[in-house]
Amino acid sequence: MKIYVDDGSTSIKVKWEESDDKRLAVPTAFKRGWKADFGNSNIVNYDIDGEKYSFDRHDSAALNTSNIEWQYSAANTLAVHHALLQTGIEPQTIDIVVTLPLSEYYDTNKQINKENIQRKKSSLMRRVSNSKETQMFKLDAITVRPESIPAGFEILSEMDTNQSLLIVDIGGTTLDISQISGKMTDVINIYGDPHTGVSLITEEVKNALIEAKTYTSNHMADLFIINRNNHDFFDKNINNPAKIKRVKEAIENANRRLNERVINSIRQFKGYSHVMVIGGGSELISQAIKDFCDVRQDRFLFPLIHNLIWSMAFSLWGKY
Ligand SMILES: Nc1ncnc2c1ncn2[C@@H]1O[C@H](COP(=O)(O)OP(=O)(O)OP(=O)(O)O)[C@@H](O)[C@H]1O
Ligand SMILES: [Mg+2]
Repeated sequence: MKIYVDDGSTSIKVKWEESDDKRLAVPTAFKRGWKADFGNSNIVNYDIDGEKYSFDRHDSAALNTSNIEWQYSAANTLAVHHALLQTGIEPQTIDIVVTLPLSEYYDTNKQINKENIQRKKSSLMRRVSNSKETQMFKLDAITVRPESIPAGFEILSEMDTNQSLLIVDIGGTTLDISQISGKMTDVINIYGDPHTGVSLITEEVKNALIEAKTYTSNHMADLFIINRNNHDFFDKNINNPAKIKRVKEAIENANRRLNERVINSIRQFKGYSHVMVIGGGSELISQAIKDFCDVRQDRFLFPLIHNLIWSMAFSLWGKY
């Protein structure tokens, strides 16, 4: 069986086929040490390289995943195994396809970075066990793909060879931009920024929340960003209501800075006819990209329903 895993720094997206296409996204929220067993069948406590970790979306002591080293870390391997267990598939030996950000997948000469790919494979091959001593998935063949490029396959197959598609993927940690010519004839240009992602906003929100006497995990801080227009959510989850305005302002200001950085990176790309914006941060930046790139209305592709953001990133993976 083959399972497609887009192992992003904030959420692991999994796609597999049963009678139909199945998809799942699981946050990468782990902390050191095991936590108390609730007595149910959920597996949350893991052991890797002789170290204990547990899945915990609420604890502010959760490990920081918004850095590039996370791609090769024990926590990444755990996050992939934890996400696989959430699929409901009987643990077995599987082949998987995983991703690396463009800045890791390619070297500075824009050639495939075989060393990083091998490092990623070796990292994922580590043995993981759990506190209930139940069977875990065993990874057999591991294929590593560049993040974001597969999302464009479907539209690229319909495009003319003279045209090109700009794919902008804004994730939790990284910004990946690629320009690919129609029918996938050429990779015209690629750019990966490992330090520009929604986590720029997450950090600011966490600090503003501390001022509001609210100590949160990255995952919880992300929920404030996702619910930025939902006043009820702020009212329910902020301990000092007088600071709600301050937290909202922190989101707006950090978002403005994020938008500026993304547009500056896009400036180096020229001559594209189509633009596609993907990744969890797309809602935050798509308007600015649309205004800046100024392509024809029907050639600007941005999934309106959030759930489609990551599912699109898988659109034609099955045909690899
Ligand atoms: N509707 C939304 N509005 C704003 N931000 C959102 C929304 N949905 C998700 N996000 C943010 O997007 C980020 C997750 O995006 P995504 O799943 O693409 O990242 P990732 O693939 O895990 O990260 P990376 O590719 O950088 O390793 C989180 O920081 C989350 O807060
Ligand atoms: Mg991603």
